[in-house]
Amino acid sequence: MVQIYINDCPYDAKEGSMIIEVADRVGIHIPRFCYHPNLSIAANCRMCLVETSAAPRPVPACATPVSEGLRVQTCSDKVKAAQSAVLEFLLINHPLDCPVCDQGGECELQDLTMQHAHSHSHFDEEKRTVPNLNLGPLVATEMNRCIHCTRCVRFGSEIADRKEIGALGRGEYTRITNALESQLESPISSNIIDLCPVGALTSKPKRFTGRTWEYQSAPGVAMHDGTRAKVQWHIKANTIARVSSRAQPTEHDYWLSDRDRFGMLGLTNLDRFNTPLRWSSEGWKRLSIDDIQQWLLSVEGPVRTLLHSSVSRSDRAALNGFLFNMFGSKAERIEELTHRHFPWFDFATTWPYNLNDMKNVLVIGSSFETDHPIVALHLRNYLKNNHDNHIVQIGLTHDRWNSSKVEQKILPVEQWPDVIADFLSKNKDCYIFWNVQSFDSETQKEIAQALSEHAKNCCVLGVDGPFDPAFMKGRMQESLLDRPKPEVIITVGLEPADWNSDMEVYRALHQADLVMSFTAHQYAQGLHTNHILLPLTIPLEQANTYQSFWLPGELMTHEKVLQPDEGIYDLSHWMQILQEKRHLIKRPIERLHSHQALVTSAEKGPIQKDFSRLKRLHILKHPAATDYILRRSPALQKTPWAQDCSKIWIASDITPSIPDGASVELFDTYGNALIGKVKRVASLPSNTIIVWSGHQESAPFFGPYWQTLVEVFEHAIS
Ligand code: SF4
Ligand code: FES
Repeated sequence: MVQIYINDCPYDAKEGSMIIEVADRVGIHIPRFCYHPNLSIAANCRMCLVETSAAPRPVPACATPVSEGLRVQTCSDKVKAAQSAVLEFLLINHPLDCPVCDQGGECELQDLTMQHAHSHSHFDEEKRTVPNLNLGPLVATEMNRCIHCTRCVRFGSEIADRKEIGALGRGEYTRITNALESQLESPISSNIIDLCPVGALTSKPKRFTGRTWEYQSAPGVAMHDGTRAKVQWHIKANTIARVSSRAQPTEHDYWLSDRDRFGMLGLTNLDRFNTPLRWSSEGWKRLSIDDIQQWLLSVEGPVRTLLHSSVSRSDRAALNGFLFNMFGSKAERIEELTHRHFPWFDFATTWPYNLNDMKNVLVIGSSFETDHPIVALHLRNYLKNNHDNHIVQIGLTHDRWNSSKVEQKILPVEQWPDVIADFLSKNKDCYIFWNVQSFDSETQKEIAQALSEHAKNCCVLGVDGPFDPAFMKGRMQESLLDRPKPEVIITVGLEPADWNSDMEVYRALHQADLVMSFTAHQYAQGLHTNHILLPLTIPLEQANTYQSFWLPGELMTHEKVLQPDEGIYDLSHWMQILQEKRHLIKRPIERLHSHQALVTSAEKGPIQKDFSRLKRLHILKHPAATDYILRRSPALQKTPWAQDCSKIWIASDITPSIPDGASVELFDTYGNALIGKVKRVASLPSNTIIVWSGHQESAPFFGPYWQTLVEVFEHAIS
């Protein structure tokens, strides 16, 4: 430690730290544009000039290390003159368009100009003009406003690990540009909106829709990155106008994924409904609560409950109480749809709080960067901070790590259990991330068995977040179809796009006498005539509690920040309404449902096509369509990585004559077809096809005819 003096007050400082770091720690503000605590030091804006005892001229505080006895002045006349000169220099080319700039009201340049700049400029030549860039559907550009601080460039190369933006030219000809005019592909790229100190980079979907002073803000918890980052909701007219990070730059959850920043566009009022509905041949019809209660009071058989994993803890508790009071022993244990794919866990996993103590990391599953962008970012940091360590990944496709310390093994899934067991026998001291994806349950079971001895160092991640260790142990070990036919199935937060790729759930839902779905949005078609929808609040219309990823046992909460329309209630409110007539005498259930519902593949008749070379099909969850919020976010669906997952991924050895981008028809053995664009993926194991479930285009392909073997044909567009 050394002692320095800032504005004549003594402070202890870590040797080697920069003046600006010490000043920030003790609460003395030094103006800055290019400096950011999470990025490397560029020292190119010169806004942070301070006077020191070590140099005759002002020096940049962000790039000057402290030394014993150093005296620093941050607001002397010399410093003020330097700051004002720097501002005048920056404003030479910066347009004075604050009245129409989205950054107005929170622009660092605007604020500092008000504090330090002259009221006039010595410059009377024309300002330069710079063409705008197309960075994709999330980030709007107004490059005349750029002051070349290079924060966005450094974010790309140092944090997102993609050099997508760079600086070209020198002096007045310097310009920030995107490589090859391509759109930003990183699933965390929208952090540059917060990083840009001026209005050069702003939110494209929300451009010109609100000013900062119009927003009310409230603290929240990120719902879609799995690590539960701290976010700030900005609210205007009962909608979320934008989302920003609430963490301090030095905290580990400072960066947000694009899913969390722009997923909120899916919190829409389109296709919301505010009265119970029942499916009929003429579509959805209004239904009275009395009728629902009568049905529920007559239930005799098993009551099964399937949830989306985003359902909050308080809602689960309300549901548990309702099931116990209404149905007693007739109610089965509540199940999460995601867990249903992975029924073989009989071990307790942990959170990765001891990651840096681990010698190596094993990642099981591919698409890690898009499924878990923030966890992937932390793994990159793990590699940077632990030079001798490395990551081994076993997957179906190549992930983008950009590091020689990551060894990727691309293998057909049936080979995974042996490779995992072999790796773990040789590497006891490793941490495991299992990005669970929809493979057949036998393979899942073998992987789970291979991992069970190492459970204390294993974190299991579904596409919408980590599985809570508390829920992992002793998962259900039998298929839904092996159990007695349910009389009632209650679903919460699920839509057909969530269950259509799950044959077992699909069949179980069709077999039930009554399906009662609590859902925020009305979907196009019900399952059968006893399918009821009850209007549910979206997460921000009620307080919610989430499990913290970094602090085991700690809960994170957010308050209710949006007002639901009349008739839309949260789950606990619905539970009370439905339980109100518990005392009434039971009446026989009105059995309108004719039980003809499900035509299974086996009952559907002979196979229509005789395929000699059947392909191995994997259905994985679309990372931009993991729930009803994300799949309704138009901007997110247009990102390059989401567009990629809307295609059918085909290995290069399958019908090589079909080019990348061509339209194909995917037939299952019963002649059902999915039409989509092809993405040729050279790294896929041979004979493999990946289809991404959860979005509207692929949903009709699954359902009752779901088969694992398919044939591909080029689709002739008429
Ligand atoms: S676009 Fe914004 S963040 Fe990037 S260099 Fe310009 S001012 Fe800095
Ligand atoms: S903040 Fe120090 S030079 Fe830019």
